[in-house]
This record gives sequence, structure tokens and C-alpha cells, in this order.
Amino acid sequence: MMHVLGAGSLGLLWLARLQQAGQPCSLLVRNQATLEAWRTADNKLIFEQQGHQSQQRANVEVATTSDTPIQTLIVATKAHSTLAAVESVRHRLSTLSQILLLQNGLGAQQQVSHAFTEQRVLYASVTDGAWQPAPRHVIWAGQGTTLIGDPLNQRAPEWLKQLDSNAVQWQWDDNIVAVLWRKLAVNCAINPFTLLFDCVNGEVPNVAGSWLDECIAELQALLTSQAVPHLDDLPTQIYEVIRRTANNSSSMRQDMHAKRRTELDYILGYACRLAQHERIPTPALNRLLYATQRRLAELDLPVD
Ligand SMILES: NC(=O)c1ccc[n+]([C@@H]2O[C@H](COP(=O)([O-])OP(=O)(O)OC[C@H]3O[C@@H](n4cnc5c(N)ncnc54)[C@H](OP(=O)(O)O)[C@@H]3O)[C@@H](O)[C@H]2O)c1
Repeated sequence: MMHVLGAGSLGLLWLARLQQAGQPCSLLVRNQATLEAWRTADNKLIFEQQGHQSQQRANVEVATTSDTPIQTLIVATKAHSTLAAVESVRHRLSTLSQILLLQNGLGAQQQVSHAFTEQRVLYASVTDGAWQPAPRHVIWAGQGTTLIGDPLNQRAPEWLKQLDSNAVQWQWDDNIVAVLWRKLAVNCAINPFTLLFDCVNGEVPNVAGSWLDECIAELQALLTSQAVPHLDDLPTQIYEVIRRTANNSSSMRQDMHAKRRTELDYILGYACRLAQHERIPTPALNRLLYATQRRLAELDLPVD
């Protein structure tokens, strides 16, 4: 039995695909009120892909109150909620439990690894796109691959094989932290600008001008200090993502419009803090962080 923690877009996408592949799963929700809402809806989960809807019945529990042991915990909360969410099920974990973290950015993974030294903690980089038009309804908007790895152990655990049979397209990666750093760099170069200038991804080069290239050069220096390999093509990769996703509104911009807390602190905030710690000058990134935080404060949104 796998447990998915967090009933948002990505949590429901994982739950739906695992259940569809016949994998027994339980969804862990935050509180009794959310559980009651599921019960009232007969625990029905709507899973939609390319306009085709299917219905499933979910097995839902309150994360904190149930005490059945958890062997495999798949954590699908936002980065800023991750440590508290995993802490809320600590009483259900044993030394045999394994934790798979699906968060974007960096920082949340390290927080959980430090707090849960007795459990094996795996990190993932997800390129699927999912969103929710309504509670208990998830749309799989973009099919991607999930890279999974363990910074402390190069062997994939056996249970990951249960993700096969088309449930989740995944690959093991021996250097998952480098993968996450690269994704963070791409997100740092695009998402904060989309928030600051309230624009789609494709407009970033125009609105940011040379500021974008200064940020990319600083990110290259920062990732070099973290031993991330093959950085020569980072600028090309970033411009390619901008071109490919030109009409997309970044998750950070979407969060701003929906008045939700953004993951800025686990993306650009993390990069700037680490640069300061490593004494790598990043004036363009610092200026971007400051400007973005000021914009969030003007909108009465949390700046961290
Ligand atoms: N969505 C995507 O397409 C996608 C793709 C790649 C990566 N990611 C990453 O995946 C992570 C999750 O993203 P998302 O889009 O799924 O976010 P989301 O829709 O906001 O879902 C997060 C869910 O976590 C729940 N949660 C928070 N704290 C909890 C707790 N203590 N106990 C139980 N549930 C808790 C939230 O419940 P409440 O509503 O009660 O707060 C919410 O349902 C993020 O790091 C994101 O960057 C997402």
C-alpha cells in the first residue's frame, strides 16, 4: 500500500494513475473537514486527460489521526508545507518506511532529509503538468517523465518497480540533486520575471532585457560551485524552455493571481541564500529576489 500525502493537483494525479494501474493507495488529507468533503462526494475522484473523464473511488484518511503504518510515503505538498506535512505522519513511519518527495525547487528536500534520518528519503523531478478545475477533479495537462534518485544511495529501491505498468513514467537518476539544480535554474530565470512583469513565459526576454542574461550567467556560476555537470548549454536550455512554453503562465504567476503563497523562497530564495553562503556574487539574482518579494508584499502575499 502506498500513501499519497497532499490532495492537490500532483497528489491526485499520482493517486489516479497508481489506482488505474491497480496499485493499492491511500490519500492522506490535512483534516477532518477535507475528509468529510470527500465522503459527501462519495470519495469520487475525477481524472481527466485530453478531454476524456474517468471516475475512481479514492481511499481517503486524515494524515494525522490515522495510525496505520506507512511504508511508502509519496509527498505532493508545496515546498513550504512539506516538512510540516511529513512531520504530521511521523508517528506512522518506521525505519523501514521510505519517503518520496515530489517538490519543485530545493530546500524542502534537505529539510526532510535532516529531520528524517532513520528513513530513506528519495527526491524526484517531475515534468508532468496537472491542475484542478475543482476539488477532487484533476486534469493531466502535460505528460512528462519523473526522474527519481537518492542523494545518499545509488541503488533504486525495489518498490519503485510498482510504479511501472504505465502508472508513472519514471527513470532512476544517480545525480538527482544536479537534476533539481538545473530545473531550479530554469525556474529562477523565468518564473520570477513572469510574476514581476505579470507576463507569459515567452515575453520574459523582452521585458527583462539584459537582466535575464545577467541572471543566467550568475546561475551558471552558482551551479558550477555545486558541481552540476554540462553547464555550457544552460543558456540555450533556458531560451529553449522559454520558446517551447511561450504561451504558458508559470506556476508562480498562477499562484500570484490566485492569491496563493508562491514557492519563490524554495527557488530564487534558495539560490540567493546559497550564493551568499558560497560567497558567489549574484547581484542580478538578488535584485530579482528583492523586486519579486516587494511585488508580493504589495499584493499582501507571503514573501517567503
Ligand atoms: N501541479 C503540477 O503540475 C506540478 C508539476 C511538477 C511539480 N509540481 C510540484 O509539486 C508540488 C505540489 O504541487 P501541486 O500543484 O500539487 O500543489 P497544490 O495543488 O497546492 O497541492 C498541495 C496539496 O498539499 C496539501 N497539504 C499541504 N499541507 C498539508 C498537510 N500538512 N497535510 C495534508 N495535506 C497538506 C494541500 O492541502 P490544503 O489545500 O489543505 O492546503 C494541497 O491539497 C509543488 O512543489 C509543485 O511545484 C507540481
